[in-house]
Amino acid sequence: MSTEPGQEFRVALDGVYLKRGDRQVLRGLTCGFPRGQISVVLGGSGCGKSTLMRLVGGLTRPDSGVVRVAGEDISRMSNRRLFSVRERIGMLFQGGALLDSMTVFDNVALPLREHSKLAEPDIRAEVSRRLVAVGLEQVGELYPRELSGGMNRRAALARAIVTDPEIVMVDEPFSGLDPINVRRIEALLVELNRRLGITLVVTSHHLASSLRMADRIVFMVDGRAISGTPEALLQSDDERVVAFLEAEKDQSTEDYAARTDAFPVAGGAA
Ligand SMILES: Nc1ncnc2c1ncn2[C@@H]1O[C@H](COP(=O)(O)OP(=O)(O)OP(=O)(O)O)[C@@H](O)[C@H]1O
Ligand SMILES: [Mg+2]
Repeated sequence: MSTEPGQEFRVALDGVYLKRGDRQVLRGLTCGFPRGQISVVLGGSGCGKSTLMRLVGGLTRPDSGVVRVAGEDISRMSNRRLFSVRERIGMLFQGGALLDSMTVFDNVALPLREHSKLAEPDIRAEVSRRLVAVGLEQVGELYPRELSGGMNRRAALARAIVTDPEIVMVDEPFSGLDPINVRRIEALLVELNRRLGITLVVTSHHLASSLRMADRIVFMVDGRAISGTPEALLQSDDERVVAFLEAEKDQSTEDYAARTDAFPVAGGAA
């Protein structure tokens, strides 16, 4: 697998090194996420997927190398300029919780209340539209603790997209969800990409849905990345890719033994 020439990356990392504590987590990470496509970041626990998300969101700065978002190098940008770039990115962090002290509606409204100059009636209309989009129009007045895990995840997704970002980064949206909710979140993400043209970056352990939805896979291993199409990943003879696929396949088979379509379904992104 390799980087295809001629791709226009909306988000790209080039030769990024990062140490956390004693550990050299990233060792020259180079990868890109093409405009208008769904990219899925795969890799074992601790390989640095959430770290990658934090770098793109400007929450962590690289020790060296370049992080480019929407054409701008954010790795050494001032916080004030970073703030304006960050407004173009919707982020759903791993386990990214809603605030318990406010209703689902107010949680989704929060980014608009904090970052936009919209009047309250317009905010309410926008939030209602997003809640409909994620199938939660009935529960806006409930508190997060009154919702199921899958509903919480959908509400958090509504919050991540409420400002109409052109790039959306979603860290582990499927973990801990049952197969029906996995499908639901997956369909929502694909819809966001196909209908609104959002550049989507999703990290996941969930191999079946990753292969279904991804236009492009970025596989992280040893602090670097191997990128290509899902088909190329499945056909890769890199022993680290093969070992990961085998391990995840076993996991998928255990999790979804009853499902016949769990693995592998490549290229069926629609
Ligand atoms: N604040 C920190 N201080 C020290 N080490 C950290 C810190 N944040 C992350 N790390 C280390 O960096 C490495 C990468 O962590 P990261 O959370 O990015 O992995 P991940 O691929 O997202 O894992 P998972 O699949 O379990 O979510 C891990 O070894 C982790 O222990
Ligand atoms: Mg993580």
